Amino acid sequence: MAPRPGVRVRSIAPGRVNLIGDHTDYMGGRAMPMAVQMATTITATIGGDRIELISAQVPGALGLDLPVTAAAEVEPPWGRYVAGVAAELAAEVGMVGTIESDLPLGSGLSSSASLEVAVALALGDDGSPHEVARRCQLAEHRATGMPCGIMDQLAIAAGVQGHALLMDFETLDVEPVALPDRARFWVVHSGQERRLVGSAYAQRRAECEQAAATIGPLPHASPEAIERLTDPTERARARHVRTECDRVTAFADALRSGDLVAAGALMTASHASLRDDFEVSTTRLDELVAQLCGRKGVHGARLTGAGFGGCVVALAEPGIELAGWQVHASDGARVEIDP
Ligand code: GLA
Repeated sequence: MAPRPGVRVRSIAPGRVNLIGDHTDYMGGRAMPMAVQMATTITATIGGDRIELISAQVPGALGLDLPVTAAAEVEPPWGRYVAGVAAELAAEVGMVGTIESDLPLGSGLSSSASLEVAVALALGDDGSPHEVARRCQLAEHRATGMPCGIMDQLAIAAGVQGHALLMDFETLDVEPVALPDRARFWVVHSGQERRLVGSAYAQRRAECEQAAATIGPLPHASPEAIERLTDPTERARARHVRTECDRVTAFADALRSGDLVAAGALMTASHASLRDDFEVSTTRLDELVAQLCGRKGVHGARLTGAGFGGCVVALAEPGIELAGWQVHASDGARVEIDP
């Protein structure tokens, strides 16, 4: 599985933006992310029993002895993602190289998952996109303790240029859906760093699991069953998951028929559900969504990713300029040997 010692590799893993369907992946629901053109690139020479990496963007050098045992304690902190992947792959052959990224770090474009996938490919993981994504998801659990779902890593591994990815987390089916020619997606930073994501994320997930223990899988729960949940918090969380999955299906249909107005309205409705029922928004994110939705030519906007700060994704007409990054759907991660 690992490339031979002495070989030079370049692995390139995009970031991702989730267009709709947040906090559904770990409950077997649906989402529609896409890989973006900004990426993490690792250029390295394979060999030795250590991983030595420096980052062009972030201070600190990583020197990691293999095999890795405790990924969560590694310094500098970005090295934990590298260590998590090395541990998950049980890597015994290391590498020496550099990491470069044109992804805004810690902004909701999955710079960490992108780093994980880039490391996995550089270290010789030649599994299917699903297999690579699963190993990187488990690597993130090791690195951070946050019980994330598989959406980010799967979007990064399985991206298709010009397409959003309709994901069903019950079957792990990924269906690329062509983006309409006129659709322009923008990512706008709220100016607020994401906070408390790890613990609040785990708490939300636990609330969903408690609701599912009473009424069964949330994506299939009937509205009546959800309303019968006695705990109001569990009821609200379940309502979000169920309605969000329906919005994902409707959003995919809207994209297929080129109905940007309907697609935008579903994004804005998703934001309201994340704000009111899932309680992962912030005042700043709500204000930004309202402000963007008030602009002519913007069809809708929503927080993207886990919430608690970070970024908003907006759907706009061509010719509109927003104060952020315009993102294009790109292909998934790849590795070049002897570049
Ligand atoms: C984070 C996690 C994903 C997903 C989103 C919310 O990005 O890594 O698995 O749960 O939050 O949709």
